[in-house]
Amino acid sequence: MCDTKKNRGLEEILYVIDENGPVPEQEPMRQYYFIKKARQYVEQQEKQAGRPLSAHVTTFGCQMNARDSEKLAGILSEVGYIEEPDEKKADFVIFNTCTVRENANQRLYGRLGQLGRAKRQNPDMKIALCGCMMQELEVVEKLKKSYPFVDLIFGTHNLYKFAELLSTSQESGRMVIDIWKDTDKIVEEIPSERKYPFKSGVNIMFGCNNFCSYCIVPYVRGRERSREPADIIREIDRLAADGVVEIMLLGQNVNSYGKNLAHPISFAKLLTEIEKIDGIQRIRFMTSHPKDLSKELITVMGQSKKICRHLHLPIQSGSTRILEKMNRRYTKEQYLDLVESIRRAVPDISLTTDIIVGFPGETEEDFQETLDVVRKVRYDAAFTFQYSKRTGTPAAVMEEQVPPEVVKERFERLLTEVQSISAEACKIHTGSIQEVLVESVNEHDASLVTGRMSNNLLVHFPGDTSLIGTLIPVRLKECRGFYYIGEAVENG
Ligand code: SAH
Ligand code: SF4
Ligand code: F3S
Repeated sequence: MCDTKKNRGLEEILYVIDENGPVPEQEPMRQYYFIKKARQYVEQQEKQAGRPLSAHVTTFGCQMNARDSEKLAGILSEVGYIEEPDEKKADFVIFNTCTVRENANQRLYGRLGQLGRAKRQNPDMKIALCGCMMQELEVVEKLKKSYPFVDLIFGTHNLYKFAELLSTSQESGRMVIDIWKDTDKIVEEIPSERKYPFKSGVNIMFGCNNFCSYCIVPYVRGRERSREPADIIREIDRLAADGVVEIMLLGQNVNSYGKNLAHPISFAKLLTEIEKIDGIQRIRFMTSHPKDLSKELITVMGQSKKICRHLHLPIQSGSTRILEKMNRRYTKEQYLDLVESIRRAVPDISLTTDIIVGFPGETEEDFQETLDVVRKVRYDAAFTFQYSKRTGTPAAVMEEQVPPEVVKERFERLLTEVQSISAEACKIHTGSIQEVLVESVNEHDASLVTGRMSNNLLVHFPGDTSLIGTLIPVRLKECRGFYYIGEAVENG
C-alpha cells in the first residue's frame, strides 16, 4: 500500500511512465499509468478554473466500505484533487454505497437527489457511484433512467480500476458504467489514504461464501478470496513504519481466512504472525462467524498481548429453528457454549453482536429465545436490525413474512432489553485504569480528548492534540451510559 499523500515510491514510478505510450497490461502498473493520465487532466482543468479541484468521498455501510473509500481517496489525492469536506461544494463526488437493507438504498436515492440539485448549480461537478448497491442490475437500470446526471458507475469487484475509470470518464461526455459479475482477482499496491494516521483497517479477505438466507452480501461482494499472508504482513509492516499502532483486520468472516489459499493457513496463525510486528500495539478484527471460530483462535486470543479484549460475534437469532432457516449453521446451545469458552480464556472480554428481528416465520417463542440469549450473554453492545427483504435472497421468497407492526413491537422490546443490559455492563469498569488509544479532540468540548479502550468503549478526558495517536493509562471516573469520563494517570 502507498499510504502517504505524496508517496515517493509511487512518484518515482510515475516519473518514468510515458502516459502517451501504450497502456501497460499488468496491474498495478496499468493503474499507475492512468493516475498519471488523470493527473494531467486535473492539472488542465485547474488552469482553466484558476483554482485547485476538490473531491469528496461519501461512505455508506460497513468497515469494508470504509476501507474501500480510503482507496478511492488515495487515488483521488494522487490524481491531484484536494479534499472538500462539503459534498455539495466538491468538483468530484463519489458515493460508496451499501445495499444490506432496504433503507440503505432509500437513503442513497435521497442523497443522490440532493446532489443532483447541487449539480444544477455547478454543471461541471462530476458524480460517481460505486460499491455494493451498484452490483444490482435493477439499481443500475433505475439510475440510467432516473438519474442521468451521474457520470460514472462501477461495482465492488473493479474498485482497484478507479484510476482507469476516472480517466475514461474524464475523456467521455457520457455516463460510464463498468460492473463485473464476480472476480477471482486481488490487485495489490493500489494507493490509499488513511482517515487516521495512527490506525488502519487491513483487508485480509474479500467476499463471502456463507449465503445466510437473508443476506445480499455474497451476491454483491462475490466469492471468498483471501489475500496472501506475505502481502498482508508487508502492508502492516509499512503501516507500522508509518506510525500506525492499531490495525483492524477486515473480512465478512475472518474465521475462514486462508482456507482456500494454495498454502492454507488459519486465521489464528495469521494473528500470531501479525503479533510479531514491532510498532503494532493493538490488533482488532471483524467479523467473526460463530460457526468457524476455532479453539486455536480462542487460545491465541487468551495468550496475546496485542489482540484487543473485544469480540464481535453476531448471533442474528437466539432460536435454533430460525438459525437453521437463516442458514447460520450453529444452534443456540453451540453459540452459548462458544461464549463460555471465550469468557473462560479471556475473562475481561467485551462481547458485541448483531441481531435480526422478524425473520420470516419468527414466532413470539422464537423471539423469546433471542431475549434469553441476550440476558444470558449480557452483551456490551448489540446492533439490532428489523428484518429487511432483499430481492434475490432465499428469505425474500419464504412464506410467513412477519407483519411490520409485529416486527416493530418486538424490535422495541429487544432494544429496551439490550440497552439496559449494556448500560449495566458498561458501568462495571468504573474506577479501573485502562490503556486508551487517544483518537481525537472531543467534538463538543475542546478541553477534552476522546480515546478508545481495548474493549472498544470510549472515554473522554482532559488533554490536547499532542496526545492523539498515543496509548496512555486513564482512570475511569464516571460512566455516562455508554461511555466514560476519565483522567490520565501519571506514570502509569
Ligand atoms: N458478515 C457479517 C455481517 C455483515 S452484514 C456477519 O456474518 O456477521 C451486517 C449485519 O447486517 C448482519 O450481521 C445482520 O445482522 C444485518 N443484516 C444483513 N442482512 C440483513 C437483512 N436482510 N435484514 C436485516 N438485517 C440484515
Ligand atoms: Fe452475510 Fe452471512 Fe456472509 Fe455475514 S456471513 S456477509 S451475514 S452471508
Ligand atoms: Fe453494506 Fe456491502 Fe458492507 S452491502 S454492509 S457495504 S459489504
